[in-house]
Amino acid sequence: MTTRRSFVKWVSAAGSAVGLTGLPRLGEALELPDGIWTPASPGRARAPLNILILGGTGFTGPEQVDYALARGHRVTLFNRNKTRPGMFNGKVHEELVGDLNNDTSALAGKSFDVVIDNPTTAPAWVRNVAQQLKGRVRHYVFISTTSTYGNDQSAIGLNEDSPTAVLPSDVDPYTLDPQLLGRHYGALKVLAEKEVQKHYPGSWTVIRPCLIVGPLDRTDRFTWWPARIAQGGEVLAPDRPDDPCQYIDSRDLAEWTVRVAEGHELGLFNAIGPAHPFTIAEMLYGVRAVTTQPTRFTWVPWEFLQQHQVRPWRDMTVWQPPYGRTAGYQRRSAAKAIAKGLTFRPHAVTAKDTLDWHLSRPPAEQQATLEGRINGIGMKREAEVLAAWHARTGAG
Ligand SMILES: NC(=O)c1ccc[n+]([C@@H]2O[C@H](COP(=O)([O-])OP(=O)(O)OC[C@H]3O[C@@H](n4cnc5c(N)ncnc54)[C@H](OP(=O)(O)O)[C@@H]3O)[C@@H](O)[C@H]2O)c1
Repeated sequence: MTTRRSFVKWVSAAGSAVGLTGLPRLGEALELPDGIWTPASPGRARAPLNILILGGTGFTGPEQVDYALARGHRVTLFNRNKTRPGMFNGKVHEELVGDLNNDTSALAGKSFDVVIDNPTTAPAWVRNVAQQLKGRVRHYVFISTTSTYGNDQSAIGLNEDSPTAVLPSDVDPYTLDPQLLGRHYGALKVLAEKEVQKHYPGSWTVIRPCLIVGPLDRTDRFTWWPARIAQGGEVLAPDRPDDPCQYIDSRDLAEWTVRVAEGHELGLFNAIGPAHPFTIAEMLYGVRAVTTQPTRFTWVPWEFLQQHQVRPWRDMTVWQPPYGRTAGYQRRSAAKAIAKGLTFRPHAVTAKDTLDWHLSRPPAEQQATLEGRINGIGMKREAEVLAAWHARTGAG
């Protein structure tokens, strides 16, 4: 299990020569200081759980499945069998096929210790599951989002008690055109959270992650940076190096979600990393540290980026201007989740694993990333903006 706590590791190697150097002998305890992370085996859970994962084959879901299986839990999946069909062939207890929109019949008559609900945005999806499972679930864990705090996140230190987004009164969340789910994403998630609380009173957990990053993320919102920086050369970087930066690695989120289920931790939690204030420069230099091409960053002021239609988040991914309505966007609080055992991989692990995964993608997907077809400015536009900046400043 990943841990940031002090832990004691028993030295298993023969230790006669080791002893001479002052290091522990065989069987002696080696105490590592706080903050050391090791990719150790997850270990087995004390009591195996019967877990239903709604979704499970997209991005965070597969990490939940792997971790839950490694911990010895029984895992059932429910999805449409469209995304990565066959991904867990024979590995999970059962793969149920249905659609949260209109066909949850595969869940009829079943009971679970825990449901982890990944895909839901619309409250109707929670209701549709509850029609089959209400009274048959001990713990419902709902994956929400920090977008619940709405479009204006000017407040710094947003926490679980902060106000949330409200759906316009002329929009009916139960008859909403699925095309509009994205437009009202944060407000619908708030309503879905409430639907969870209504159907599973006293036995729910709501987890609100910020930007989730890592292997399997096809949105390129973080992947852009490892993919781009691995190419080397001059890299366009947003505004000021000390601007704040937050994200959560999908493995940290998934593993903690399973531990929340094991510990029957109830309530509402932001799930945001890293554990300490982190800057956009630390993020970018950390990615550079896992690449080999010579790279240099050119930090271009936000005013100039705006003049050249370079958008935060979308083109300069991860980054949001730390003032105005996005002032608090990268400065939210995860203190409550950290107190309940949320842990974080080192940034270098996230960067390296994301890059390795990106380099394993089909060449056309890798090319699409570098062209900025999904998120990320794209190398052609990046070069144009850098040229314009150098023309303005007279720098070479
Ligand atoms: N990505 C981010 O940065 C971010 C940030 C904050 C919060 N979140 C939240 O994180 C959650 C987790 O997303 P994820 O993609 O990592 O989860 P996931 O469980 O790995 O993937 C989504 C799953 O949902 C299934 N699914 C989609 N539509 C369905 C439907 N109508 N009926 C049944 N199953 C359906 C998909 O399979 P099929 O296609 O085969 O049905 C897939 O298995 C989401 O709720 C999202 O709002 C994401």
